[in-house]
Formats: sequence, C-alpha cells, structure tokens
Amino acid sequence: MKFFIDTASVKEIKDALQLGVLDGVTTNPTLVAKTGRGFKEVIMEICNIVNGPVSAEVVSLEAEGMIREGRLLAGWAPNIVVKIPILPEGLKAIKTLSQDNIKINTTLIFNPLQALMAAKAGATYVSPFLGRLDDVSSDGMNLVRDIKIILDNYGFNTQIIASSIRHPMHVVEAAKIGAHVATIPYSVIKSLVKHPLTDIGIKNFLTDWEKVPEKPF
Ligand code: E4P
Repeated sequence: MKFFIDTASVKEIKDALQLGVLDGVTTNPTLVAKTGRGFKEVIMEICNIVNGPVSAEVVSLEAEGMIREGRLLAGWAPNIVVKIPILPEGLKAIKTLSQDNIKINTTLIFNPLQALMAAKAGATYVSPFLGRLDDVSSDGMNLVRDIKIILDNYGFNTQIIASSIRHPMHVVEAAKIGAHVATIPYSVIKSLVKHPLTDIGIKNFLTDWEKVPEKPF
C-alpha cells in the first residue's frame, strides 16, 4: 500500500519524508488556504521535495476551464496529478486530459458509480472520502470495498486512494480491502506506529539494561 500525506504544509511533508514511508502528497484548496501561501509557490515547493505524485486541484466547474487549469498545473512539474471533482463536466475534462497523458485524481467520490464513471473516463486515481461518509453516519469503508470489487471485476488500472482518513483503523481496513493508496493527515501518520505496550516494553527493557554488567554501549 502506498502512503500519501494529505496536507499542503511543507513542514509536515518534510517531517513525514524523514520517516521513509512517504510515496506522494494530496492537497486541496482548503489545505492550501491553511498555509497562507500562494498556490503555485506552495505546489512547486512540494513538487521539488517529493519524489512522487503531488495532487493539485482545479477550481473551474466547466470542462473547458478544468482542462485549461489542468494543462497549466501539469506544466508546473512532472509529478503533478490534476485533481478533478466528479461532475459530468469533470468527466469530460478527465477524458480530454487523460488522452494527453496527464494524470488525474478524481476527488469527492461518495458512491461506487462515481468511481466507475471516473475510471471509464480514464482517471489514474479515484478518491473515496470515507471519513466524510462516516461523519454523516454512513459506512465509508463499505464504499472503498465496493469500488475495489467493481474496478477489479473489469480490470481497470485506476488506483483507489482511501481519502478523508481520520484514524489508524481507517488505514488498517483500507489496506485489508486492498486500496492502492491511503492519503493520511500527518497527525494520523505519526500515530501509525504508536502502541502503549511498545512504550511499556521499551521502558522495562531499559530499566533491566541498567542491571547488565559490562555494557558495550
Ligand atoms: C483527499 O485528497 C482530500 O484532500 C482529503 O482526504 C479530504 O479529507 P477531509 O475530509 O479530512 O477534509
């Protein structure tokens, strides 16, 4: 499973890179706005420090505008993935841009047919927002499961990015289902290796180590 970080914070990206498990980045307009920095400046900096796909989102709602913005974004760096919302206009833009070999991440997926449509149009990735479904008392993980079954049934190469991850169990469940990618906020990435028994074990080992004679280090 690939791990992307869901942030536009360069500091968080640099910290996550040091863990050695980061494969890419997803951003969205909200995450960029939180940085207080210019869109191009922040996306370019991220693309320069990350050796993997970086999703940057279009804001037009018409296919023509999405295509124009998508082409502009794709020209900024070779690792840009253009994020397009799943709308009828978005499908048109996905078709055109994917024919130009521009990689597309289809965003705001909340039902399996949206994912199937995006895959048929040529999307590289589909992003089911499972946490936002959980937020409204729906089973977000079931969406990821259904999309995986449907895309596998027909041999699509489109990859599933489990998105809107809220906690480590979302990552566990998405990995069990076989989602290709999880895009994870930094706060959750940090908690992925945490376990109270690990902390207690380390404490006890270090206490006992003090009793070992003639220590080499
Ligand atoms: C995915 O690409 C989105 O940026 C993201 O996962 C949205 O998550 P949120 O529901 O926490 O805003």
